Amino acid sequence: MKILLLGSGGREHALAWKISQSSQLEKLYVAPGNAGTNSIAENVDLSIKDFKSIAAFVLEKEIKIVVVGPEDPLVNGIHDYFDSIPDLNQVTIVGPKKEGAKLEGSKDFSKEFMKRHRIPTAKYGSFNYDTLDKGLAYLETLSGPYVLKADGLAAGKGVIIENDLSKAKKAFKKMLKGQFGAASNTVVIEEFLSGIELSVFIITDGVNYKILPEAKDYKRIGENDTGLNTGGMGAISPVPFANREFMDKVENQIIIPTVKGLRKENIDYSGFIFFGLIAVKGDPYVIEYNCRLGDPESEVILPRLKSDILELFDGLATNTLSERDVEIDPRSASTVMLVSGGYPEAYEKGEEITFSNNVNGGLVFHAGTKNMDNKIITNGGRVISVTAYGKNLETALKNSYNTLENVSFNKMFYRKDIGKDLIKKS
Ligand code: AMP
Ligand code: GLY
Repeated sequence: MKILLLGSGGREHALAWKISQSSQLEKLYVAPGNAGTNSIAENVDLSIKDFKSIAAFVLEKEIKIVVVGPEDPLVNGIHDYFDSIPDLNQVTIVGPKKEGAKLEGSKDFSKEFMKRHRIPTAKYGSFNYDTLDKGLAYLETLSGPYVLKADGLAAGKGVIIENDLSKAKKAFKKMLKGQFGAASNTVVIEEFLSGIELSVFIITDGVNYKILPEAKDYKRIGENDTGLNTGGMGAISPVPFANREFMDKVENQIIIPTVKGLRKENIDYSGFIFFGLIAVKGDPYVIEYNCRLGDPESEVILPRLKSDILELFDGLATNTLSERDVEIDPRSASTVMLVSGGYPEAYEKGEEITFSNNVNGGLVFHAGTKNMDNKIITNGGRVISVTAYGKNLETALKNSYNTLENVSFNKMFYRKDIGKDLIKKS
């Protein structure tokens, strides 16, 4: 099988690492990739926005499966584009068409979808400039904190949480007046849910699904979950509080109604669904859907997937997902993200990264890196994600922190408390 993987982050290095272990793999290309994917696959200098050039490359190299890492190409219709070209409609795209990607691409759509299918989520109202006054009145009916969400994709920055009502009203007006461009033409106002978040993943052909390992991501830059939001500073899997009883609720109240709901609405979905959940007094609620895997969650869930991932992708290609097995490694995995100093605000790129030879059996996944003049240099805010296994969460974390001692670059920063909140509970 010849595969093209789109994207350039830690998620994509983890996917490339997993795909490259398959005995069915003939050749793996990654576009545009990073220095990590370059060491195990062939990087191709193509923009993930340039569907025409991607299509030409797929034809030229006789690629069978295109795995889409990030949400952008999916929300912008890469799957629909391939389907519309006769020579390419036999290529399997791992990732939904535009309509299915709306689960992530439109908060308004996803909230309405959950309402239609009685999927537990925070109560909400959806407003635009014409209904601004109604939105302000709706805010008054809630008690703080107030959750405001831009309807469309806003590079992970479209959610604002304000404690104070008058500040929330101001923020709401600012959003509707174009703070996030067209993405905030519609704004969803939500009830605040208080609990612990976790991420649950499935792969689905739109009818059948397989549950992948769950994970918890640490989003804030500072220790004890303080400071600005980031793309994710670390992750652990499994999640100690996601026991059998809880995961049964997730499956029955959320996963099954979601997959059935898509089918009922004739949204033919093929790819991953990432359920961003919050556990409130032992019950799961959906905070958001994503139409792709998470980052850095991929860096812990893919190492725990023992099955051949190309078997699962082939299941999507041949409508045989139900016959495929998902075997999960019982060990814990943890990952710690090494970021550029200053991130998530302004930071420098181009710092040389050095690796000592001994990585203690850990896995070093590259995120924002690139090759230059025989060196590996930083090329983003999140630079390297260091994953390790352990017989329990505590050991996995110890191994991740030991391994990361072998990586260094100028102004490197990382959180020292990943997973700490859950250790006593594991
Ligand atoms: P999202 O982009 O939808 O994942 O939201 C970003 C973050 O905002 C989530 O990871 C939560 O921490 C928080 N958040 C979103 N919606 C709510 C809510 N209804 N209640 C509490 N926290 C929320
Ligand atoms: N780690 C959160 C995300 O990938 O959206």
